[in-house]
Amino acid sequence: MEFFDYFEQVYGERWPALLEALKGEGNAVRLQFGESLEPYFLDEASVFAAKMLSVEPGMDVLDMCAAPGGKTLVIASMLQGQGTLQSNDRSPDRRLRLQHVIENSLPPQWRSVINVTGYDGVKFGLHRKESYDRILLDAPCSSDRHVLQSPTHLAEWSAKRVKRLSVEQGSLLASAADALRPGGEIVYGTCALAPLENDAVVAKILKKRPFLEAVRVEEIPEGADRTEYGVHILPDRARGCGPIYCARLRKH
Ligand SMILES: C[S@@+](CC[C@H](N)C(=O)[O-])C[C@H]1O[C@@H](n2cnc3c(N)ncnc32)[C@H](O)[C@@H]1O
Repeated sequence: MEFFDYFEQVYGERWPALLEALKGEGNAVRLQFGESLEPYFLDEASVFAAKMLSVEPGMDVLDMCAAPGGKTLVIASMLQGQGTLQSNDRSPDRRLRLQHVIENSLPPQWRSVINVTGYDGVKFGLHRKESYDRILLDAPCSSDRHVLQSPTHLAEWSAKRVKRLSVEQGSLLASAADALRPGGEIVYGTCALAPLENDAVVAKILKKRPFLEAVRVEEIPEGADRTEYGVHILPDRARGCGPIYCARLRKH
């Protein structure tokens, strides 16, 4: 099934307005952590997702899919140089960009606690069992706003690919669940429109890892939608922000 038909079925009457908003300007905020440091522009909804991880100084944090690094900057600003942050990404090219962002946009004391690694995220559950207080899984996803902007990506889009990504996201989330300490929290996020990549992935992990529970987030951005397990920020109602889906999960 083609992109437009697929999402018309998902969003019904909302789809035309959502489609127009997706083609429009985004809503980025400027992150700058010092006068001589490079600013970084990040979608307001992405800042919300990273803050949802409620990181405190002294915690051990894993950013499992971290490149190019926008959310790692937000996490580092919450840690303030105390604790540890492992910023991991499997792609060597994207890791170079991540390293550049960390070196040029963060004060030395904040970046001193960051360790950049290049592991496959699915391995953490096995090799780093119960090692982190907080894990951000900003998962590889359909990136539908980018798909719309690129005729090549639009031609490559398929419902099958959405399903494939959903399985990959599930494996990464299972790994995050096992790498989390009891009492710790995960934020699972995507920039996808399809429920199959969002709530459906969370629904599956809650069955597979019953020690996890979805935590309700009290304050959400203006115009954001609550879903069964998380929050979906979409540009037609949220002043051009998103798409960002995020859900907060706690381990008993
Ligand atoms: C949505 S992007 C992350 C964006 C990033 N969190 C930020 O705020 O800038 C997803 C990332 O996941 C990485 N990735 C994909 N599969 C992975 C895997 N199995 N393990 C680790 N990283 C992976 C990709 O290279 C990509 O950089």
